[in-house]
Order: sequence, then C-alpha cells, then structure tokens
Amino acid sequence: MVSSNFLTMLFLFLSLSFAPTQQSSKPKALLLSVTKDPSTLQYLTHFNLGTPFVQKSLVVDLGGRYLWIECTKDYKSSTHKSGICGSAACLVANSDNCTVCLSGSRPKCLDKHRRPCYIYPENTVDNGPAQFGNLSLDRISLQSTDGITSGPFVTINKFIFACATDKLLMNLAKGVKGMLGLGRHPAGLSIQLSSAFGGSLRRIFAVCLPSQSKTNGVIVFGDSNYLFYPDYNTSKTINLSSIFTYTRLVVNPVSTSKIYETGEASADYFVDLQSVMVNNKIVPINSSLLTFNEWGFGGTKLSTVNPYSVLEASIYSAFVKLFDDEIIATRNISKVAAVEPFAECYSIGQVGVALTGLDAPSIRFVFKDNTFWELHGANSMVQISRDVMCLGFLDGGNQVTISIVIGAHQLQDHLLQFDLDASKLGFTSSLLSRGIKCSNFKF
Ligand SMILES: *[C@@H]1O[C@H](CO)[C@@H](O)[C@H](O)[C@H]1NC(C)=O
Ligand SMILES: *[C@@H]1O[C@H](CO)[C@@H](O)[C@H](O)[C@H]1NC(C)=O
Ligand SMILES: *[C@@H]1O[C@H](CO)[C@@H](O)[C@H](O)[C@H]1NC(C)=O
Ligand SMILES: *[C@@H]1O[C@H](CO)[C@@H](O)[C@H](O)[C@H]1NC(C)=O
Ligand SMILES: *[C@@H]1O[C@H](CO)[C@@H](O)[C@H](O)[C@H]1NC(C)=O
Ligand SMILES: *[C@@H]1O[C@H](CO)[C@@H](O)[C@H](O)[C@H]1NC(C)=O
Repeated sequence: MVSSNFLTMLFLFLSLSFAPTQQSSKPKALLLSVTKDPSTLQYLTHFNLGTPFVQKSLVVDLGGRYLWIECTKDYKSSTHKSGICGSAACLVANSDNCTVCLSGSRPKCLDKHRRPCYIYPENTVDNGPAQFGNLSLDRISLQSTDGITSGPFVTINKFIFACATDKLLMNLAKGVKGMLGLGRHPAGLSIQLSSAFGGSLRRIFAVCLPSQSKTNGVIVFGDSNYLFYPDYNTSKTINLSSIFTYTRLVVNPVSTSKIYETGEASADYFVDLQSVMVNNKIVPINSSLLTFNEWGFGGTKLSTVNPYSVLEASIYSAFVKLFDDEIIATRNISKVAAVEPFAECYSIGQVGVALTGLDAPSIRFVFKDNTFWELHGANSMVQISRDVMCLGFLDGGNQVTISIVIGAHQLQDHLLQFDLDASKLGFTSSLLSRGIKCSNFKF
C-alpha cells in the first residue's frame, strides 16, 4: 500500500504545482479520451506535455506504476527538469536508488545532490527488461469537466514521470511515445492528479474502453457523473452514475514489476475471485491459484495491455472443457480449426445475435463478496469471419505468475470505476444491454 509519508510529501509537493490555464476554481474531474489501435489492439490516449506543449500519444497501462516517455530523442521542453536525489519528487516516486559511487579501477563518486534519481520504466506490452530512467518533471495538461459538459484544459506543473530511451518503444503502436500507468502507485496518474489539486479531485477514476477503433472511449479522474448519449443524440441522456456493482480490490504485497524497491507492493489491480461459472456451472479450479503465495504469485488482475484474458493452464483447460460442453450441448454448432491466437473456435451456424453480442453461454466471475460479473458474447467471443467465432481467452501455460489476467476484450464496453481510497472496483453489465457503448460517452 501507499505509505502515508509519501502521500503527505506528494500532497505538499504537488499542491504547489497546479496552475489553471483559464479559471481559478479547482476541477472536480478530468478527462482523457481512449482509442483502440486496430493493428496492435493497444488502447491509446494522448495529452499535452512540456513547453511548448507537444501532444504525446501513449499506451494506457491500467496496472502500470507511472507515466514513462521516450525523452532521449524526440523530446525538447524548456520546463523539463530531472528529480535530484533526495528531493521531494524522488521520495514521492519511492526512488531510493541514489547510488553515488561507481566502482571500477578508479572509483568515481558523483555529488548525489546533483544526480537524478532513477525510476524503472518498463514496457508491459512486450514484457522486456525494465530500464533505469531518470525521474523527470514537466507540465502536462488535461481537459476538465463539471460532470455534464467538458470544461477548460488545466495544467499540472511538475508532473512526475520516467524518462526512457527509444528502445523501450518496441512493439508499441505507431506514433506512441510511452506508456501511461494508472496503477496504484504514488506516482500513478490518479494519485498525482488528486494531490495536484489538493484533494478536490478524489482518488477515483473510471475507465470505459471502446470496442471499435476510430471511436473514443474515456477515462474520467475524480468524482463525476457518467453521462452517455444513445445514438449520439444529446436529448437522450443515460446517466450511469449509480448503476455500479462493487467488489473489493486486493493488494498483492509483492510487486509485479521487473525492478522494484524493497517492500514495494504491486501497482496492479487485483480482484478477489472466488469462482468462474459457465451457464451457472462452476469451473473446477484449484482455489490456491486464486490467492497469492509467498512470492506474490497467483490471483486475478485486470489488464488493458492484454488484448484477451490469459488463464493459467489448469484453469484454462477446465474452463474450456466446460464451455465447450455447454456451447455444443445447447446450440447447433460445431468445432472448427483454431485461428491464431485462439484455440477454441466454432462455426457460427444459426447462432443468434443479441444486444450483447453472439448468443454464447454466459461466463460469470464470482467474487468473494458474493457479487458477480457476467460476460456475454460481445465480451466472450471474437468473431473471425461471417462463419467462425472463437472463445476470446488464451492459455497462459503453467509458468504464469498471475493465475487469471482479465484482458481488454472482456473489459470493453463496460464502465469500470477504481476507487483507491475505498479499495473497491465498481463495474457495470455490458453497456450494450442498454443500447450504448463506451463511445457514446459525452465529452
Ligand atoms: C541503482 O542504479 C544503478 C544504475 O546506476 C544500478 O546498477 C543498480 O542496480 C541500482 N540499484 C538498485 C537497488 O536498484
Ligand atoms: C539522465 O540524466 C543524466 C544526468 O543529468 C544525463 O546524462 C542522461 O542523459 C539522462 N538520461 C536520460 C535517459 O534522460
Ligand atoms: C433525438 O431524440 C429526440 C427524443 O427522443 C428525438 O425527438 C429527436 O428526433 C432525436 N434527434 C435525432 C437527430 O435523431
Ligand atoms: C446522475 O446520477 C447521479 C446519481 O444518481 C445524480 O447525483 C446526478 O445528479 C445525475 N446527473 C444528471 C446530470 O442527471
Ligand atoms: C493446487 O495448487 C497448488 C499451488 O500451485 C499446488 O501446490 C497444489 O498441489 C494444487 N492442488 C491440487 C489438488 O492440485
Ligand atoms: C443444425 O445445423 C445444420 C447445418 O448448419 C443444419 O443442416 C441442421 O438443420 C441444423 N439442425 C437443427 C436442429 O437446427
């Protein structure tokens, strides 16, 4: 968990760093738009950074610790600063790597008060090694909202992020300059924004991932109404502010990052999954896989960088067996050849299409607090062609460190609210059942 020392420090540090560009009142909520890149299936957002402001395109990483940006080649800003060892910014980001002496035949010691502290940007898409990146500070700007209509852009000065080299951009969508971490970390976007506005912005954010490219979904930071417009017709508002079902978010005490500070908890969002059901039948799962072991392995997390859910091998095979039995017993359907990356594919035949997608067996994630989240065809199946559909879940093998990763295909067109203070996740049923999508959010 985030230590209160860091939070006090962050509060003091960032509350001095906010400067509204147009009006002096503090915003209640801030907005980012999200699009789906059609070739990589990565979710992208963008905001202005630096002086002069330059728009940076970034991959959204729900469990990422902080923002990182390529800053060795394509980044010039007169307001860019490095966080110097021992400074408030370095303490906020929990960076205590201020090694002062370099060993060698003639050890060279640097003045630690002039040396930038390191944080560790990593590319969670290709899962390569993390880098040692200078902790950096610069200004960013985001659009505000009063919960009904979007308002002026506000600037946050001294926003903390990590500088990376362009090597870290490998396998990210074209034009992308880094990754935006929304994770549970003092330098994660939600916590930094909240501190920047002296707590007027609650440490809560909502994510609505669009299912189609060329449309915008949204991330809303702070307390806000969530208003959607069916058919993009502004006289037909649907207010989704009070339709959430809540479940507890659990903290994995062991970091899931490549490099981390001693005692650092994972920034990923884990839920307390009790069972998985297909058509109300329980998938037999070894329940010890659903809790964390002493190395922090196990559990169930949500991810925006995995396009599809990934299940540990024994869970996958039990799940697929039950799903297969159910779909074949209840529908006039046959198995067809696998289509990469999926293993379980079916002829669509006479399978109907409902508001919530192809008519497939329902999949339920049942949580320990007795709530459940149910997925229908639009989130369980991937339609490959007119005649073929595949189950949108992947086998992670038996060496996975996280037993169940709920991926973006399963999350899309749902409104998800992450409340960091109450440590709970609010989720909705598929917005499609109400005749709307994430792209119907009114900016
Ligand atoms: C601190 O940073 C240096 C790079 O200068 C790295 O070699 C070292 O392993 C880091 N130490 C820790 C504890 O991360
Ligand atoms: C980090 O800071 C050092 C010292 O200021 C500088 O030499 C180096 O180029 C910086 N590295 C990056 C990736 O910005
Ligand atoms: C928008 O919705 C209103 C109320 O349902 C309807 O009267 C109007 O014709 C719609 N406008 C468009 C452009 O569809
Ligand atoms: C939306 O619903 C919330 C909670 O029920 C309510 O407080 C808010 O006033 C509503 N907003 C609008 C614009 O209808
Ligand atoms: C359940 O999983 C745990 C951890 O992987 C393993 O030690 C245990 O033997 C498994 N139990 C069964 C019945 O397979
Ligand atoms: C099942 O599907 C096949 C081919 O798609 C069709 O010929 C047959 O009539 C269907 N059977 C039923 C009971 O619907």
